[in-house]
Amino acid sequence: MFITFEGLDFSGKSTQAKLLVERLRQQHSIVHFIREPGGTAISERIRDILLDKQHLEMSDTAEILLFSASRAQLVTQAILPALMRSEIVVCDRYCDSTTAYQGYGRGLDLDAVRSINALATQSTSPDLTVLVDIPVDEIELRKSKAGLSFDRMESSGREFYERVRNGYKRMAAEEPARWIVVDGTEPIPQIQATIWKTVETKMKNQKVQHV
Ligand code: TYD
Repeated sequence: MFITFEGLDFSGKSTQAKLLVERLRQQHSIVHFIREPGGTAISERIRDILLDKQHLEMSDTAEILLFSASRAQLVTQAILPALMRSEIVVCDRYCDSTTAYQGYGRGLDLDAVRSINALATQSTSPDLTVLVDIPVDEIELRKSKAGLSFDRMESSGREFYERVRNGYKRMAAEEPARWIVVDGTEPIPQIQATIWKTVETKMKNQKVQHV
């Protein structure tokens, strides 16, 4: 079972991913929790290059290829072997982030993005993708409340985030069997319960298919 979490920065998706992993670990022996970009030694080094605030000159093409290089290593080294052993993999971001941020956000050609994603993931698609959706206004609010300094990606402007959000929504609408969209402005336990219900149903259905 392969589950991914997607959403804008500060959407709360990482919190929800963590809560899901904790719950799954109470019932299943092996649950891998991976964050993107990162998850292997090589991928973590690529992550540092990508998020470094000094790297303002990075071209959009270099950016997508670095995210994808990081993912290619992760898929080969960690995700595929775990799925082959029928273990559960939960990923905080995956190739839908690339479609949303580099495709819809930066405006790179969507067909090219699709090809790069297929290559990087060996066409390994999640069984379920959770989109934690929040309005861009809410991000601004959460950002200023947190009072943190931002990495290179998080310093992108408001219009960029609007495009990314709309891209996510479009992807979810195009593939409703794989995606669920949860309202990230709801209380954390409520969102968690909605996600858990969907995961349980997916798992039951998968078991039925394998019998
Ligand atoms: P991170 O600090 O992990 O953010 P978050 O906790 O919100 O996931 O940084 C990841 C940043 O990289 C985030 O701004 C989204 C962006 N990103 C892309 O632009 N493309 C991608 O393919 C991935 C995986 C992430």
